[in-house]
Amino acid sequence: MVKIELADGVYWVGAVDWNVRDFHGYETRRGTTYNAYLIKDEKTALVDTVKYPFSEELAKKIGEITNVEKLDYIIANHVETDHSSALPYIIKHAKNATIIASQRGKEGLTKHYGENLPIKTVKTGDELKLGKKTLRFIEAPMLHWPDSMFTYVVEDAILMPNDAFGQHLASSQRFDDEIDQPLLMEEAAKYYANILMPFASLAIRKIQEITEMHIPLKMIAPSHGIIWRSEPNKIVKVYMDWSEGVQKKKAVIVYDTMWGSTDKMARAIAEGIISQGIEVKFFKLRDSDVTDIATEILETRAVVLGSPTLNNSMFPSISAFLTYITGLKPKGKLWAFFGSYGWGGGAARQMVETAKKAGFDVYEPALEVKYVPTKEELEKCFAFGKEIAGKIAKPSN
Ligand code: FEO
Repeated sequence: MVKIELADGVYWVGAVDWNVRDFHGYETRRGTTYNAYLIKDEKTALVDTVKYPFSEELAKKIGEITNVEKLDYIIANHVETDHSSALPYIIKHAKNATIIASQRGKEGLTKHYGENLPIKTVKTGDELKLGKKTLRFIEAPMLHWPDSMFTYVVEDAILMPNDAFGQHLASSQRFDDEIDQPLLMEEAAKYYANILMPFASLAIRKIQEITEMHIPLKMIAPSHGIIWRSEPNKIVKVYMDWSEGVQKKKAVIVYDTMWGSTDKMARAIAEGIISQGIEVKFFKLRDSDVTDIATEILETRAVVLGSPTLNNSMFPSISAFLTYITGLKPKGKLWAFFGSYGWGGGAARQMVETAKKAGFDVYEPALEVKYVPTKEELEKCFAFGKEIAGKIAKPSN
């Protein structure tokens, strides 16, 4: 097997999961990778493991470089099982290895895999000498779990930030200069939107903290997808933009429909927005994937959400969507609501209440029609779209 070397003595030993399509609900249509890295010096360290079904593959890759049984350290940057569930398998063979983790990492690993693991805890700034090479640790709590930690290979200037800067993207290539850029950035955005967006303010602080450390960055080697080596600072800058809420003059319309009335409204609203030269992305929820919608929302200025009323409530798919999207805490968006009803109504009111409770900026009043929209009501929908376009066109502050 071809050895993939990031620097002299630093190897990728991860696994490509070509076929995973549901990653705890995240739609991974392009699969993913579980990246693990081996650093060989006088002492040998494995940085992260992989998901359990790939344990033997990991051990085989390590075995092509060094003897698994002679591993000295296993760095556990993150407890989530896509990176740690091969740890029991590896530690069974690497009987003398010490596991290195943050304090919260130790708590999490112990809860997952038992009390008897040989874990040494580290804090930000702690270093581990392997010989000529040094590993420095940077705690990164809530990016995206409390235990999360980055490992920095000092002499090679390689940052291994685990989930941060990753993408769910299976590929035969390992490096950013080997792959289609729009595809790479699309998957990086989807990953940020669906995994890291709730922690935007922490991401800003962590990037600032690392910048203030003045550490050179030759490569960023995340735990999923492609390794950033051509311009590692490019993805750092993009993360900063996303975390600060950079926006495009764009609206995302998301709706569901029972008998077509809310669909007619959605189309008329879209026409109203487009008539003002504003880009629209349009999703019928039951035919779409929420992780794709979250990706579109990442850089949008306005979200327009429509629901029919069912049993005096918003439609179940809309309710589930709001649960997911409020959890992601998108910042600085304008939220507008519309819907149809047969007799009592209720969906629009519920959507507005849910959005306000989440702290969203809500455009009021919501637009509702009874039964089927008339020609006049569709004109009102068009005008509603134009009003929203006007808000999008104005610079936000
Ligand atoms: Fe890739 Fe948070 O695990």
